[in-house]
Amino acid sequence: MTSIKRPRLRVGVLGCGQIAQAAHFESCRKARNAELYAICDSAPDLLARMTQVHQPVRAFDTYDAMLADPELDAVIIAVADQFHAALAMQAMWAGKHVLIEKPMAVTVEEAEEIAACARATARVVQVGTMKRFDPGIAFAHDALRDDLGTIVALEAWYGDSTRRYAMTDATQPVIESSKRVRRPDGDPKADRPRYYLLGHGSHLVDLARYLAGPIAAVRARERHVAGIWVWFVEVEFTSGAIGHLNLGIPYRSDWHEGFNVFAEHGSVTGKIHNPWYLKTAEVECYTERDGIIRRPLGEDGHVYRRQLEGFADTILTGVPQRGANAEDGLAAVRALVAIRQSAARDAWVRLDSVTGAV
Ligand SMILES: NC(=O)c1ccc[n+]([C@@H]2O[C@H](COP(=O)([O-])OP(=O)(O)OC[C@H]3O[C@@H](n4cnc5c(N)ncnc54)[C@H](O)[C@@H]3O)[C@@H](O)[C@H]2O)c1
Repeated sequence: MTSIKRPRLRVGVLGCGQIAQAAHFESCRKARNAELYAICDSAPDLLARMTQVHQPVRAFDTYDAMLADPELDAVIIAVADQFHAALAMQAMWAGKHVLIEKPMAVTVEEAEEIAACARATARVVQVGTMKRFDPGIAFAHDALRDDLGTIVALEAWYGDSTRRYAMTDATQPVIESSKRVRRPDGDPKADRPRYYLLGHGSHLVDLARYLAGPIAAVRARERHVAGIWVWFVEVEFTSGAIGHLNLGIPYRSDWHEGFNVFAEHGSVTGKIHNPWYLKTAEVECYTERDGIIRRPLGEDGHVYRRQLEGFADTILTGVPQRGANAEDGLAAVRALVAIRQSAARDAWVRLDSVTGAV
């Protein structure tokens, strides 16, 4: 898979905005197998400040210039969702591997193009649905894959909290900004259901797929009451398992995220914390054969650094990819489009039938 002959992946971060400052710069600097080789932003004042703080080897004010650097191995695409597809494909055609922030794309067609580009260029694509690198969630996944037999049913929930900014402001660094940042035309938040499904629903559908496999069809109900957007989604997995997803933005409650999965030889249950606490999910796995419940001590819950290390491991040593690949990213976009269409039509929608935007 790789021709890179160095122990640490040389990473360039595209975008010096919120997620780069809160997660990616630090992750690149702390990773055991990667380094913050380059950063790039079209806002020169923000680029200068981030260069001073994080000391990359190179700083670029254009993406073309960063991609032209032959020493650069991979790019983290940390810009607005609407820009992901074109910039990710540009990187792959320039020979770079890409870690694309979630959601991978905003339409089925864009996501299909990314998946086709990944195949054509043989580059590693990983989507930034980083919860797969939570040691508790990974433990649940591995137990279901290796030990618990046929999956019968899954329920999973993701409720943002009205208090979430109190939580995240307490744990994130001060986020620097600039009047000159590049943003998509119009207001991406104007269509709230779309914005919430892309931003939050992308995590929930990826979790469901990671634990219980591909989704064949969904039937969703959507409500907007008292400022709370809710989707209750019935799921049919291609395996025949059935599921239920509960997405609520924002609930008048604490952060509300977790899952139960029931299988032939046991079950797993998990309570997931707000990611900015960097605290591993509390996961238990019950096995019927011995009547024992096991719970891993996930001492390292830095999911953002761990997703980068996993990405770098795949590129440098060829280990199988734990992160969501381009096909997973495409499937997640299909699921989000299907949820939206199902809620509008009040009918089951098959994922393989959908086209268009979330
Ligand atoms: N995984 C997570 O937990 C998580 C959390 C928050 C955001 N995100 C995702 O991260 C992505 C970025 O979000 P954000 O809030 O950091 O965005 P942002 O708008 O705050 O920052 C993006 C930066 O990229 C720069 N930029 C945009 N296009 C550019 C280009 N072509 N060349 C150079 N610079 C360019 C902008 O000037 C801006 O500074 C989104 O897709 C979002 O969904 C993920």
